[in-house]
Amino acid sequence: MDMKLSVIQFTLILLLASFANYAQCLVIDIKKYGAPNGDITSGLTKAWKEACTSRTKAKIYIPKGTYNLLQIEFRGPCNAPIDFHVDGMIKAPAEYTKMDGNKQWIRFDHISHLTLLGSGVFDGQGAAAWKQNDCGINKNCRKLPMNFGFGFLNHSIIRDITSKDSKTFHVNVLSCNNVSFIHFTVTAPETSLNTDGIHIGRSTDIKILNSNIATGDDCISVGDGNKQVMIEKVTCGPGHGISVGSLGMYAYEQNVEGLFVKSCTIKNTQNGVRIKTWPSSVGAIHASDMHFEDITMINVSNPVIIDQEYCPWNRCSKQIPSKIKISKVVFKDIRGTSATKEGVTLLCSRSVPCEEVLLSNIDLKFKGTPAIAKCINVKPILQGNVPACTR
Ligand SMILES: *[C@@H]1O[C@H](CO)[C@@H](O)[C@H](O)[C@H]1NC(C)=O
Ligand SMILES: *[C@@H]1O[C@H](CO)[C@@H](O)[C@H](O)[C@H]1NC(C)=O
Ligand SMILES: *[C@@H]1O[C@H](CO)[C@@H](O)[C@H](O)[C@H]1NC(C)=O
Repeated sequence: MDMKLSVIQFTLILLLASFANYAQCLVIDIKKYGAPNGDITSGLTKAWKEACTSRTKAKIYIPKGTYNLLQIEFRGPCNAPIDFHVDGMIKAPAEYTKMDGNKQWIRFDHISHLTLLGSGVFDGQGAAAWKQNDCGINKNCRKLPMNFGFGFLNHSIIRDITSKDSKTFHVNVLSCNNVSFIHFTVTAPETSLNTDGIHIGRSTDIKILNSNIATGDDCISVGDGNKQVMIEKVTCGPGHGISVGSLGMYAYEQNVEGLFVKSCTIKNTQNGVRIKTWPSSVGAIHASDMHFEDITMINVSNPVIIDQEYCPWNRCSKQIPSKIKISKVVFKDIRGTSATKEGVTLLCSRSVPCEEVLLSNIDLKFKGTPAIAKCINVKPILQGNVPACTR
């Protein structure tokens, strides 16, 4: 009898507790502010203002359905945590000429404890923009808006959301601290220009976990000034693989320290895991403590590559060696198929050779035979089953 009573009491307490929790949380359904012609730009602006000024945790909810959204900025700091729950399909204007290419389509700025979640899809409608993108050959090309900008966020999570067909990069993470992407999806065709998945810059403690990134450019790129970046159980392809860099193009760049890429699958891409720096570089920063472990490559043209002569479209002089120092790099347990005979390419700088590079258990096959390793300006430490270095 006593037992039963306590079970009932316990259930009651749980019910009350969850009700109290619910009552404390302000829920703003996007319908509250309306969506004339399916456009939620003005409604979302109002919803954000209400959520951001709320003294208690707030939740913005966009239910299933298709909506249009113009360029928008969600600014903090806010008073309490915010859950931004999107289950709908949100569409950007297809006409890139009507958007400001210096801004992102959707920007979250100076916010702490933001959670962007849900089964929602953010469709950048980039097809028309890709067709006119001539940034490869034209330095003064038209700037295009990225799908997402996450700037100066702390302790935030992006979960389950999909970013589709951005006009250029899908996500730019800048100056963030403790931000995790979990079960995040990026999709764009292999032929879409410059549609990098996630670019991270000047940030600390960023995690990308259990995510799937298919795009036309880098899957994930880790730019300058990043510390403690963890990429785990991510599938990349098509695209250009996971990159550090490019580094050395601009003055005032900051060091890269602490990158862990673990248990990833990379397929049908130009590169697998890559560190790229510009020759004739301006700065003299270093990139160190980078780990690439337990990676499966499928039909990857350059599965493992350090390229300190990265110079697309001959934009620089390869005569002047890169000044970026690369050290403490681990390539371990890397297996699968290479689409070229060079499975490992370590092309380091003649002025600052790479140091403490470890190759451990590299099992890459090109057309059924072991792929080779090329090592220039580096003497890697070899461990276990690895191809011998050639020049
Ligand atoms: C994020 O953290 C930094 C460093 O602790 C702090 O200066 C900044 O004010 C925080 N931003 C917000 C929006 O809370
Ligand atoms: C990182 O952010 C998450 C999500 O807000 C939070 O639960 C966690 O405590 C934070 N970690 C640190 C070390 O602040
Ligand atoms: C191999 O990868 C390339 C991209 O690097 C892709 O175009 C090609 O279709 C892939 N081959 C197969 C058999 O999937």
